[in-house]
Amino acid sequence: MKSALKALALSAALAASAAVANAETPVYLDDTQDIEARVQDALSRMTTSEKIAIIHAQSKFSSPGVQRLGIPGIWCTDGPHGIRPDVLWDEWEQAGATNDSCVAFPALTCLAATWDPQMSALYGKSIGEEARYRQKNVLLGPGVNINRTPLNGRSFEYMGEDPYLSSVMVVPYIQGVQANGVAACVKHYALNNQEVDRDHVNVLVDDRTLHEIYLPAFKAAVKDGGAWAIMPGYNKYNGDHACENSVLLLDILKGDWGFDGVAISDWGAVHNTEKVATNGLDMEFGSWTNGLNWGASNAYDNYYLAKPYQKLIEEGKMDTKDLDDKAARVLRLIMRTEMNRNRPYGSLNSDEHYAAARTIGANGTVLLKNEGNLLPIAPTAKKVLVVGENAIKMMTVGGGSSSLKVQHETLPLDGIRKMAADKGIEIVYERGYVGDVTGEYNGVTTGQDLNDSRTAEQLIADAVKAAKDADMVIFIGGLNKSDHQDAEGTDRLAYELPYNQNTVISALAKANPNTVVVNLTGNAYAMPWKDEVPAIVQGWYFGSEAGNALADVLFGEVNPSGKMPFTMAAALTDYAAHATADPEMYPGVNGDVTYKEGLDVGYRHTDKLKPARVNYAFGHGLSYTTFELGQASLSTKELTQDGTVTVTVPVTNTGSREGAEVVQVYVRDVKSTLARPMKELKAFQKVTLKPGQTEVVKLTLDKNAFAFYNADTKQWEVEPGKFEILVGTASDNIAARLPLNITAKNLAWKD
Ligand code: BGC
Repeated sequence: MKSALKALALSAALAASAAVANAETPVYLDDTQDIEARVQDALSRMTTSEKIAIIHAQSKFSSPGVQRLGIPGIWCTDGPHGIRPDVLWDEWEQAGATNDSCVAFPALTCLAATWDPQMSALYGKSIGEEARYRQKNVLLGPGVNINRTPLNGRSFEYMGEDPYLSSVMVVPYIQGVQANGVAACVKHYALNNQEVDRDHVNVLVDDRTLHEIYLPAFKAAVKDGGAWAIMPGYNKYNGDHACENSVLLLDILKGDWGFDGVAISDWGAVHNTEKVATNGLDMEFGSWTNGLNWGASNAYDNYYLAKPYQKLIEEGKMDTKDLDDKAARVLRLIMRTEMNRNRPYGSLNSDEHYAAARTIGANGTVLLKNEGNLLPIAPTAKKVLVVGENAIKMMTVGGGSSSLKVQHETLPLDGIRKMAADKGIEIVYERGYVGDVTGEYNGVTTGQDLNDSRTAEQLIADAVKAAKDADMVIFIGGLNKSDHQDAEGTDRLAYELPYNQNTVISALAKANPNTVVVNLTGNAYAMPWKDEVPAIVQGWYFGSEAGNALADVLFGEVNPSGKMPFTMAAALTDYAAHATADPEMYPGVNGDVTYKEGLDVGYRHTDKLKPARVNYAFGHGLSYTTFELGQASLSTKELTQDGTVTVTVPVTNTGSREGAEVVQVYVRDVKSTLARPMKELKAFQKVTLKPGQTEVVKLTLDKNAFAFYNADTKQWEVEPGKFEILVGTASDNIAARLPLNITAKNLAWKD
């Protein structure tokens, strides 16, 4: 009897489960199956409404999955320097969580300045672990827009001026993040090079420049890094917003580069349903509209890719092909991330993450000048005066969407004090100038009171007095994360350092010959005091470990090895975009900005100036030791067919400390039909050497190093003829020029 009852119960249960299965068979979740099969399986079970739901936001940073099928949603987070604190569902105000404080990693300019892909891998791994622990699936970063103008408020979120450097550096970051089952969303695709009129500015640029300067880092992110997401930006290109731009999204990204991930709109960057539906965008975030008026709350159903899109489909005005493609991509993203059961758990605020932030910060610090070996701070120094607002200002709050809520931030002054105490050195502090005393972003406050009621004259007088009484002065200034400095939403208004800092520096230099200038910025700036001070250090927004990373370098615990990721020109007009003060080139006229300078970005322009109008060149950076490059050679003098050439060069540490040098290889096309830059970076390698040690560096160049983009044939081409391979340690410090003859014919290929 008992067994009969059991059998009855079992068959009832089976019948019930069959009924459920018939109604809605659960999605095949077995993650041993191929993702594509699972994507198609899930897609085949979804209704049009469900597909519409997953391609747009449901809150400020999330989109729903498909609850009915057990498919989880997506949670995005900024990016790119740390995991942003949580905001409310439909408001930008803080959610007030107690578990969303993070480690702030150095700004991406600093990462680029390490010229070390291993640092990039460490960065990606660490920030990816923080994102994973915070249960985010998409990290809105890294940023790889090219530094076209030093006025761009967002340069600090990017990797400098050179397409090759940023292409190399972006790849390990992405791979590190994605190893955690978190998607990197590379931004802002493409040509998002200024903040003035950022929502609508229409960029006009020739095809060759687009492909040679502004696209390579995105291409590397997609093709080499395998990025699972990309963020089309706010700006327009050739008349269409990036999110609605079929050339950028369909032809190039999804066509030429074969991108299989998700194109996620920048927040509020979508403007038109038909265009966005058909031109390659996959997900819409941040729109703030009810379809008619700007400013409706909980307007998600009215997003361009929500009900308006569904209506067009239901009315038969649009087919479902694009919708299916978008939904499939979103499903693929979910399966790569949230539904990947094998991904690690991540970690937050770990010792390893602080150590990573510190290491990357110290390794990205650039020693620009060091006359008389003033640095590192000598153990014999008894009293060191620190001057400047950036020594005491928290810099992790502010700057726009990259603003963070940190668990800890060691200020420069505190880091220096701590290390000095260990060495028996007395540190005194003077403010020198008052810059910006605010410290709030989106409800996160620094809690610092930086007010000082002294007049500018008094501040200088006090600093000068203290400088006369010190063995050494360390000025720590630069820019900050306030509007019109290094901040999203606004560009800088001038190339000069703000807040009277030039006067302060000159006064200090007069008062004490042992004055070191340390500037923390995300951009280049004027240095009228360059010859007045013996030592200059370029620092960045270092994040949580600012003080410790800086102290490591100033006291010589870490031997600086950073190299400039952009050109520090003498004046704003030494950047081609500003050379003629042509408003059509910057900031644009009637909504158009025209990149008339073409390829002449950064050193590609200043290389042509006679005399050189550069304070510190791209690739420049000193060390506390010295290096010498030995005789460089090429594996061949002639390339007769598609092949490679290897550059070999011995590097010797000729000083008395361990240190690292970056061997840089530039290529010059000696004679070409089309005008080409005087030189272009095509390979580099950082080597760490003990005193007296020599290492033979070998760097291989393939056809990509010699090619230009032919806008007529829409392909990369190598023109046969004479080339020069330039080997050096900075773009203005070339030790060897090796001739190479390319006789290979018909070297041409598409992306
Ligand atoms: C920024 C993006 C950011 C997004 C979400 C936008 O304003 O341009 O970089 O990821 O907001 O915060």
